[in-house]
Amino acid sequence: MTDVTITLDPSSRIGAVPRRLFGGFVEHLGRHIYDGIHEPGHPSADADGFRQDVIELVRELGVSTIRYPGGNFVSGYRWEDGVGPREDRPTRLDLAWHSIETNEVGLHEFSTWLEKVGSDLMLAVNLGTRGIEEAVDLLEYANVPGGTTLSERRRDNGRDEPFAVEMWCLGNEMDGPWQLGHLDADSYGRLASRTAHAMKLVDPAITTVACGSSSRDMDTFGTWERTVLGHAYDNVDYLSCHAYYEERDGDRAAFLASGEHMARFIDEIIVAADHVKALKRSDKTIQISFDEWNVWYMNRPAPGSFSGTAVDEFAHAPRLLEDQYTVLDGVVFGSLLITLLRHCDRVTSASLAQLVNVIAPIMTEPGGPAWRQTTFYPFALTSRLARGVALRVPVSSGTFSAAKLGEVADVDAVATWDQDAGAASVFVVNRALDGSRDVSVDVSGLGAVAVEEAHLLADGDLDAANTLDDPERVSTVALEGATVADGILTFTLPAVSWAAVSLTLS
Ligand code: AHR
Repeated sequence: MTDVTITLDPSSRIGAVPRRLFGGFVEHLGRHIYDGIHEPGHPSADADGFRQDVIELVRELGVSTIRYPGGNFVSGYRWEDGVGPREDRPTRLDLAWHSIETNEVGLHEFSTWLEKVGSDLMLAVNLGTRGIEEAVDLLEYANVPGGTTLSERRRDNGRDEPFAVEMWCLGNEMDGPWQLGHLDADSYGRLASRTAHAMKLVDPAITTVACGSSSRDMDTFGTWERTVLGHAYDNVDYLSCHAYYEERDGDRAAFLASGEHMARFIDEIIVAADHVKALKRSDKTIQISFDEWNVWYMNRPAPGSFSGTAVDEFAHAPRLLEDQYTVLDGVVFGSLLITLLRHCDRVTSASLAQLVNVIAPIMTEPGGPAWRQTTFYPFALTSRLARGVALRVPVSSGTFSAAKLGEVADVDAVATWDQDAGAASVFVVNRALDGSRDVSVDVSGLGAVAVEEAHLLADGDLDAANTLDDPERVSTVALEGATVADGILTFTLPAVSWAAVSLTLS
């Protein structure tokens, strides 16, 4: 007997799958840059000091655009510190993460690394301790071909061609009281608007991202969006949002429903943004940049996280936010990707926070190996297989009770269809804790199809994880028994599992 039916109809289009949905985020934080991507003494380090084992894993992950250099870090950052001869670069206190920043890696080095991993740069400007002038200076340095003091300084520093950065974040989480230079919505909305206006006078081809809410739980959520866009609507293209999920108080059902929480958050942001659109009678539609999302155990600090605040406790590249992800985390993570894909008509950019060592799909040990966390697999598979257009797929399944979210469907899914390539993919999660579900997907609307690949993330031990000692304990396995007969794709999903099935069309 089938427990779940899904219908795949090529006419139920959500929108083209934006490559930027599979973006990442690299912050100067903990061991992300130093002893993460950059470790000159490591056996795999290249001539620039970048670990090639990490480069290979980032390439395999399939990350499009990478947001840099923060995060909270950017709100105290002076971009000039990170350019020019290395021996002249200052060592600073990083107040956001209570660390020492040596500035060995800055814009040029990071851009070199991006070329090696095959990703594009998305830059954030500091609107915490700095303002319009410094933002415009950085843009001039990065994007103006030459003939001005700052663009010529870039060329003197070894980069003849402009960095040509297209997407620019106007600060980071400026709604958060923890943020250096935190502002109220009116002050930030005015500053974001003026900064974006000035930046577009330098380079009209850029797109700008105003800070939205740093979580759906912020008291200011909703009014922040309305107020900021009220000031900045005409000068910005995107509104950002951030969300991190974790299992709290042992409530696995609520954690498994995180994708539903994310969906409601996105829908509410759309309402807020379109409310301002209506007030302004604007023809422009603001896009969403979900530029921080992940599982993050904020309430269960990872070992090694700092707790002190004394001035002698600032450290260079300390172990911060080094969460170890379980199978359960990987399944929830996969469900978040399904939610993002299902909203890709409005969420046209997203950044997994973060990439290496810091709440990351990739971990490293200094002088030692690099390995994949459980979250690596859903990201890499979705980034590789989600092509063409995203399709809304109605799912008929049972439900489970998920605390404040009420009844939530056991199974959630989305599909993609690439007519030109003759391919389609289905991404599906079973969030039920009580057992497996037999799934049948009506794919008859695609014509004749055959299963090309079928991958499953599941484990009898939901707490299983990859570690330094056992780096390959968890990986995806073949989803056995995924077959198509008479236009119906069938398979069985174990309790708490995520799967991706790709089809070839004939
Ligand atoms: O990703 C870690 C931190 O989370 C970022 O620095 C900040 O923007 C958010 O609060």
